[in-house]
Amino acid sequence: VRQKKPSDLPTCMNPSSTSVSASIDAEQRKLTVRWPSGLSHTFHYVWLRHNARCPDGMPNDTQVKIDLLPDDPESLVVESFEIKNDTLEIRWADGQIETTHNLPTLLGSAYDSATRRQRKPTPVLWHAGNTEEIPVYLFSDLNNPETILQIALSIRDFGIARLKDVPLAPGTVATVAEYFGSVHLNNYGRVFDVRTGTNLTLGSNTGKYLGPHTDESYRHGAPGITLFHCLAASLDDGGETILVDGFKAAQVLKESDPASFDILCRVPVFFQRRALPEEDMQSHRRIIALDIDGDVEGIRFTDRTIPPQDLPEDLMEPVYKAIKAFWNIVNSEELKFACLMAAGDLHLFDNQRVLHGRTAFDPTAGVRHLQQCSVNRDEFHNTLRTLAARFNHPAQSLTMAGGALG
Ligand SMILES: [Fe+2]
Repeated sequence: VRQKKPSDLPTCMNPSSTSVSASIDAEQRKLTVRWPSGLSHTFHYVWLRHNARCPDGMPNDTQVKIDLLPDDPESLVVESFEIKNDTLEIRWADGQIETTHNLPTLLGSAYDSATRRQRKPTPVLWHAGNTEEIPVYLFSDLNNPETILQIALSIRDFGIARLKDVPLAPGTVATVAEYFGSVHLNNYGRVFDVRTGTNLTLGSNTGKYLGPHTDESYRHGAPGITLFHCLAASLDDGGETILVDGFKAAQVLKESDPASFDILCRVPVFFQRRALPEEDMQSHRRIIALDIDGDVEGIRFTDRTIPPQDLPEDLMEPVYKAIKAFWNIVNSEELKFACLMAAGDLHLFDNQRVLHGRTAFDPTAGVRHLQQCSVNRDEFHNTLRTLAARFNHPAQSLTMAGGALG
């Protein structure tokens, strides 16, 4: 098959309308579509080939087939292409395969850097000085699916949503969680009591100060969305909840100590929990996870479960310096949002972004009782997308932060 040069197939106009046109660059193996708005988007040949739907293929989730791809993308040649109404048709030189591409779908799938940026919501970073922006909802708002979507969007954008007037019946935390996904079951159970005097293997069940941390970093997949429901507050004005935006902390570290930021993004840190007789939970995971664009998408930081590290010699001091630098930032007064949860308050937060802790309190001055459970991150994202689709909200096609799995 002769490789067609760009001059052979310069442009293809839509015969029914001159508003959409396409051209190819055969040497770079790219096709550019020019839209009525004046915008244009360029697609690699291999992407177009993979984007093709195969009506006679085996049924699968995406209707695309890897076996239509060549072993080497550089071997692809476009024989001809044509715009017909809302469709781009491409005839490929190898095997005379034809693919058709819906133009509105192509427009919505553009992957140039500006369009990809638009598809990614910008997190709202918060600190001690702007926490009034974090939305507060009522338990009764869960009766309205559109408000459930707003609560989910608050978790997406702020990493947290707060509910008030939640009934004080034990187990209600799971009822709330089920609006967003299945309650996650792990080796500790499903719903956990955080209460003085019970299960003292958990630091949370003492009256001691707990510095800001994410939960269970010693798991490969840390809990996704965590819910805390206050059934009884402490009676001595202690036991205040401390919340820190981990994305804000990462931004502060990047600006103040870029070398330490880079270390925490690159080097897996050893986490371990051995509190129970039959327990040795371990993970080696990064404290700060970046996505493909270099944006922070997850935080993992349980300071009490970081044991002495096992690292190459040249990394030992830089890693300890970076861990301490991050610890200093998340413990700084500028970042801590302290709020006393009252009975009936419930927090839902992204455990792979928001750190939580608690000021000390007198455990003999009455019983402080919270219940906690979690929903997997992927199920929460699924709920958000499908709710958004139900109300035709743009969030249905936006990218969400993948969390601290790296
Ligand atoms: Fe915790």
